[in-house]
Amino acid sequence: MTLPIAIIGSGIAGLSAANALHKAGHAVHIFDKSRGSGGRMSSKRSDAGILDLGAQYFTARDRRFVDEVQQWQRNGWVVEWEPHLYNYKDGQLTPSPDEQTRWVGSPGMSTITRGLLGHLTVSFSCRITDLIHGEQHWYLLDAEGGEHGPFSHVIIATPAPQATALLASAPKLASTAAGVTMEPTWAVALAFESALDTPMEGCFVQGSPLDWLARNCSKPGRDNQPDTWVLHATSAWSKQNLDLSKEAVIEQLHGAFAELMHFPTPAPVFSLAHRWLYARPAAAHEWGVLADADLGLYACGDWCLSGRVEGAWLSGYEAARRLIEHQE
Ligand code: FAD
Ligand code: NAI
Repeated sequence: MTLPIAIIGSGIAGLSAANALHKAGHAVHIFDKSRGSGGRMSSKRSDAGILDLGAQYFTARDRRFVDEVQQWQRNGWVVEWEPHLYNYKDGQLTPSPDEQTRWVGSPGMSTITRGLLGHLTVSFSCRITDLIHGEQHWYLLDAEGGEHGPFSHVIIATPAPQATALLASAPKLASTAAGVTMEPTWAVALAFESALDTPMEGCFVQGSPLDWLARNCSKPGRDNQPDTWVLHATSAWSKQNLDLSKEAVIEQLHGAFAELMHFPTPAPVFSLAHRWLYARPAAAHEWGVLADADLGLYACGDWCLSGRVEGAWLSGYEAARRLIEHQE
């Protein structure tokens, strides 16, 4: 009997690996500690509508990912977003249009990973704490004391700090993952009763606690919501204010937003803050995947490549490719 392959993490890297393996005829079982798929590429349903609090949009430059995104477009999962882009520098806000194609999930980022999940076997709300390597195969232990397995291989598709803990059976891989620093991002969503008087729909920011802001409601499929905005703080500001209360984060980033807009923005009718502890790798790497093929253990994710959606997808794809190649 062929055993299934365990995949830890239902973000875009884990689901990329899962789909490539499924297409090659392998059974997979995905585990995620969250209640749904997507990880940092998920969207949140709120009283103000669907909000993308993590990944805002993505670009596709590698031919393999371009082909994949075209398939997602045919499936109706993604749509091109063409925001009125601005740049904020030296206290000046200036339009900054460009020719770059930017994709978003519609009606939210979660549409993509939900689509990729399809009918694959998944256990949500299941945090894996230990991997046990038996004679020939693997067992997974979860935080509730449950045991899962046997599996022929394990693919860990979590941020590097969470992968390190699970890589104990492969000390070399564990020490490589332990060397990856991942930086936090505070995200704030605001909704205003009447639309702010600006054509701006996205802005790259320099010289502010903010790094990026987006008019969430300008993305395709979110037009039935009030004037919603998502603000991202810089890594530096997020690190300095890691333990600030959510209320204080909202107040400070709303203040930075008002300063940047050069007009006092009204009090929001809705606000929320979310802290991404492991938002982005401090540096890009070119590993593709970390693998101990003889042991049947692989680690992938954005931190193995570019720290973007595209890098995460390519890393998961590479994990599956290496696993299949080793079996042949
Ligand atoms: P993740 O999405 O982090 O998935 C890992 C999954 O593993 C999670 O679902 C988690 O719950 C699960 N998990 C972790 N530990 C365990 C465990 N022990 N047991 C079970 N499950 C576990 N990229 C872009 O291209 N464009 C952008 O505009 C952009 N903006 C961003 C803004 C923010 C604020 C953030 C945080 C990220 C942004 N990114 C952006 C980066 C992009 O979101 C990530 O590169 C990508 O989503 C990472 O995917 P992943 O599958 O590698 O990891
Ligand atoms: P992209 O090509 O749109 O942007 C890459 C970078 O180029 C931007 O960060 C910005 O500095 C610059 N840029 C692009 N277009 C610009 C314009 N019209 N005007 C001024 N500057 C412009 O997208 P790509 O390469 O796919 O990058 C994804 C984005 O996701 C980046 O902005 C990155 O900072 C962001 N990101 C944020 C994370 C977080 O935790 N906040 C984590 C990972 C990615």
